[in-house]
Amino acid sequence: MKRFFLALLAIINGFRRRRSEEPPGPSGPIVSPGPPAPRGAELAVAALLLVAALLGVGFMFVYATESVGNRTQWEGLTLGGAFLFLAIALITAGKHLVPEEEVEEDYHDPEHPSEEEAIDQIVRESGSRITRKKLLITAGGAAGAAVGLAAITPALTLGPLLDTDELRDTPWRRGLRLIGDDGKPMFADQVEEETFYTAFPEHAKRDLLGAPVVVVRLPPAQLKLPPERAQWAPMGIVAFSKVCTHAGCAIALYRKPTFAPTQPRPALVCPCHYSTFDPARGGEVIFGPAGRPLPQLPLMVGSDGVLRAGGNFSGQVGPSYSTVRSRGPT
Ligand code: FES
Repeated sequence: MKRFFLALLAIINGFRRRRSEEPPGPSGPIVSPGPPAPRGAELAVAALLLVAALLGVGFMFVYATESVGNRTQWEGLTLGGAFLFLAIALITAGKHLVPEEEVEEDYHDPEHPSEEEAIDQIVRESGSRITRKKLLITAGGAAGAAVGLAAITPALTLGPLLDTDELRDTPWRRGLRLIGDDGKPMFADQVEEETFYTAFPEHAKRDLLGAPVVVVRLPPAQLKLPPERAQWAPMGIVAFSKVCTHAGCAIALYRKPTFAPTQPRPALVCPCHYSTFDPARGGEVIFGPAGRPLPQLPLMVGSDGVLRAGGNFSGQVGPSYSTVRSRGPT
């Protein structure tokens, strides 16, 4: 481990100081000059660093390219490989490029400025036998930059960096038919009470954030929708985004009372943290950590008896993040 850090420090030190600019300390060199480091070892370290840099760049490419097959495996292979080659490069540098120093006494924290200078001098002179500094510095810089950038690239998954419009876009438009899980149009008179359905917009990609909706049917007398949504629930059928407004899990549970007089009304439940939404009251939150209602999709019944969207959602689809309340879906 000591060699590993000495190699790292010796390479980094090359960025700041050139050998010719650094005179030895007042009492002469501490690290004996010794023979130049083996050229083969220098080239091997440079090659290992460049491979680490290429793998780091490869990871960023795979991460940004959706069409790559077995993407997850390639991401693991490239990022893991980048760290592996970086570690091998530093170990090799520590073994073959850095002079070995045996310390006989216990190491203690420097208490005097002259001791700190001596340590600084040891680190500086540890790289004195390296003859291809420029090559190693370039390779080390490339590897450090590529692996560093690769390591922070996954943070982009936390959300769009600049343009958040795609999160507001949904495929729902007035007149689009609802297609069930089985790929068939959803007929209004086939939607039963106490049952939970998933539907998608006709001809749209199912993996879009705003595509899936949950559909349930309630006795019309139970509906307490906001006045402007009075026409959104033909035959008591209501539809909501299937994406939980807490952290984006799929709404996958439907709680229905087994003894209506004493048990709570039907509710849509997210299995992740049990946010519970009231379909009879426009998807409002009645329990759990979600901070806003499920966006409701207006429904209408076409002349063919198939359920159709009456427009877009009542609010923004998806998990909450900053500014989510300020703009609606597009
Ligand atoms: S993601 Fe649904 S409750 Fe947390």
